[in-house]
Amino acid sequence: MNRYSRILGTGSYLPEKVLTNRELEDLVDTSDQWIRERTGIRERHLVSEGETCSGLAEAAARRALAAAELEPDQIDLLIVATTTPDQVFPSTACLLQHRLGIGGFAAFDIQAVCTGFVYALSVADKFIRSGTHRCALVVGSETMSRIVNWQDRATCVLFGDGAGAVVLGAAEEPGILSTHLSADGAYKDLLQVPSGVGMGRCEDPYIEMRGNEVFRMAVTTLGRIVDETLAANRLSKSDIDWLVPHQANIRIIRATAKKLNLPMERVVVTVGEHGNTSSASIPLALDTAVRDGRIQRGETLIMEAFGGGFTWGSVLVRY
Ligand code: COA
Repeated sequence: MNRYSRILGTGSYLPEKVLTNRELEDLVDTSDQWIRERTGIRERHLVSEGETCSGLAEAAARRALAAAELEPDQIDLLIVATTTPDQVFPSTACLLQHRLGIGGFAAFDIQAVCTGFVYALSVADKFIRSGTHRCALVVGSETMSRIVNWQDRATCVLFGDGAGAVVLGAAEEPGILSTHLSADGAYKDLLQVPSGVGMGRCEDPYIEMRGNEVFRMAVTTLGRIVDETLAANRLSKSDIDWLVPHQANIRIIRATAKKLNLPMERVVVTVGEHGNTSSASIPLALDTAVRDGRIQRGETLIMEAFGGGFTWGSVLVRY
């Protein structure tokens, strides 16, 4: 039995192509000012033809493995969180296994939309703590631009593409201190892609969102979950060094930071350059702040996310 899991390395990858707010002004009736003021987004990265979710995942995974100083064949569990898999099946996790030249162990996808990475990290932590697995590759990878309606100004300005990954290993000390997951399908209509092969229709598989209602639910739910996470660990707000939030909207992030009494210098914000990359946003933000030296070993981080379903959750980590 392993007692804990801890993050051994992080990695991320963004496709080269960048779409700025100014360029969006040519596509839909919007303005750079509106997008920046309402969302904090200035630009986002987009995949080009031929780039896929598993390809982005591979680039991020290789960087995370290098940071952990591990070879792909030292992994014994692979979980990919994604809403935009390359294919209906095989899972993106299996495609990634093949790309990395490894196999013979459990690999599967998790679908919890923007909360996907929090779900995946939580599942990997439980596998490792149970003692059945020792080293997990956990990836969030998305090509959201492929399910965005580029004629809908209310949604197309929000999303971007990218991938982030962590390598999680068994450890004597935490590591992951606690994970908290939840969902409520009663809200399924507020944020959805109302299309799918199982319904016999795949045409126009685009994101539909009742933005204002989603916004209000996200702020109240995330405020509640950070309180629950602190209470479950008998910690106070001042014990948190970093907030690494899902990057949907700067106003949602500011509201959660305020709830934690955290100054914005202690919040990792990448929404300006990445947009909302769904399940990739937290590992992208984490890797950014690890690589630029802001997040240091021994510090306490809270990751939190809210997304379609609705799904929501948090992970408390001693990095
Ligand atoms: N450019 C210019 N105007 C726009 C616009 C755009 N891209 N998108 C919407 N508008 C307009 C609307 O048509 C509306 O106009 P009206 O007042 O004439 O009807 C006005 O701006 C306000 O729209 P509203 O939707 O009320 O704005 P908002 O302040 O709620 O901001 C979001 C919209 C999408 C940025 C915000 O609701 C949001 O971030 N929602 C949650 C996103 C999220 O967290 N996703 C879930 C987790 S993944």
